[in-house]
Order: sequence, then structure tokens, then C-alpha cells
Amino acid sequence: ANQDSERLKREAARRALDLVEPGMRLGLGTGTTARHFVDLLGEKVAQGLKVRCVATSEATLAQAKGLNIPMTTLDDMPELDLTVDGADEVDPELRLIKGGGGALLREKIVAAASLSMAVIADASKAVARLGAFPLPVEVVPFGLVSTRRHIEKALEGLGAPGELVLRGGPKPFVTDGGHFILDCRLGAIADPERLAAALSVIPGVVEHGLFIGYARVAFIAGADAVRTLGR
Ligand code: A5P
Repeated sequence: ANQDSERLKREAARRALDLVEPGMRLGLGTGTTARHFVDLLGEKVAQGLKVRCVATSEATLAQAKGLNIPMTTLDDMPELDLTVDGADEVDPELRLIKGGGGALLREKIVAAASLSMAVIADASKAVARLGAFPLPVEVVPFGLVSTRRHIEKALEGLGAPGELVLRGGPKPFVTDGGHFILDCRLGAIADPERLAAALSVIPGVVEHGLFIGYARVAFIAGADAVRTLGR
């Protein structure tokens, strides 16, 4: 089954590669699916494709450099043509939950800097409604307990109480930005826009994993075919 899902991830990645044109400024996503895209892009670069890229994590940066993909920083190239990234969940309106891999902050900054974003995923990520996957919320370590309470209150206020789990437990997972992640088990998110707005205003919350209004297209690889959502 695992081999199968790797094959599907690669097929989705291959479809996104078709969007890449010579000279493009690209954002490279993070995770096991994005890894396939970076691999395939590396092959094209070896064959002579000229692109310039920005990575959404230290892990992706290391992978891309190893493949001799020309990398730069977002500050040197603040506008990108296309970002290709995975997701933990994609709904029919192309709203996403991201951050399972912990790279949500840089992923969202890079997505926001991109004229377009393509999501690549196997069919297990496509959902009718977001929320079965715990929503990652990146928080500053200072004031963790207080910030956590504010998040809990905000969730209650929306009528959607959830269980919050500090990723890594007693040895918290630390993001590339030096922050912690609270994974919010919500079950189902009735109104992703409202939840996103409520989380964004809490001091100590650096970013949350709801990506709304970024993805223009999603390539969802199932056993028989790759389905295209959007555009
Ligand atoms: C990384 O922070 C995440 O947003 C990933 O994009 C997401 O978790 C998908 O990862 P996989 O492709 O490994 O499932």
C-alpha cells in the first residue's frame, strides 16, 4: 500500500511538472509528495531546464541543492510564478490543511508570494470537509499555556471545541522558525474562513495550517487516474 501511495504521489507531481515553463520562478513545497516534485524537477534541470527556486523548508532546500536546482531566497526573488506543494487535506473549494510536516509558516509565506499555487496529492487527501486531520497551529514558545487557552476559547466560541496536542509532547517539535506546534483535533471544520480569522488574531499564534485562497489547481492521483480540481 505504501509503495502504491508513493507511485500516486509521483504521478500527481508529474502533472504539476507540466505547468513549469523555462525561466519560471518557483516555490518548492515540503513533505513526501513535494519531494517527488523536486526529484522530477531536478531531472529536468539536469537536462537543461532553466528555473530559479525558493524552498519552503531547510529539508527541501537541502534536497534541491543536492540536485543542483538553482536556489535563491525569497528576499532576492520576492515574487514567484508558481508554487507546488503537498497538503494534508484538500476540499472541493481548494481550501487546504497543511503543516503535518511542520513547515506551514514558510509554506504560507511562499504561497502568498506566488502568482499561482498547485497542490499535489494522492486521493487519500481529498475530503468533502476539512478537519479530520488535526489542524496545526504554530505558536511562539513564550506564553504557550496562555496562548493555548486563548485558542481553546476561540474554538469554543465557534461552537467547535477541540483537543489540543503539543506536537512532540515533553520534547516539543521545533519548527524552522523556532516555534512550537499545537495540533488541534477538531473532527470537522464547519466554517474554515471564520476559524482562520479567529486563530489569526490570537497573540502568540504565528500561523495556522488553513490555506484559503491560495491553491488554483490540485492534482489528485487516484488508482485509475489523476483528477484535476480547479482551473
Ligand atoms: C508540510 O508542513 C506540510 O504542509 C505538507 O505539505 C503536508 O504535510 C503534506 O505532506 P505529505 O506530502 O508528506 O503528505
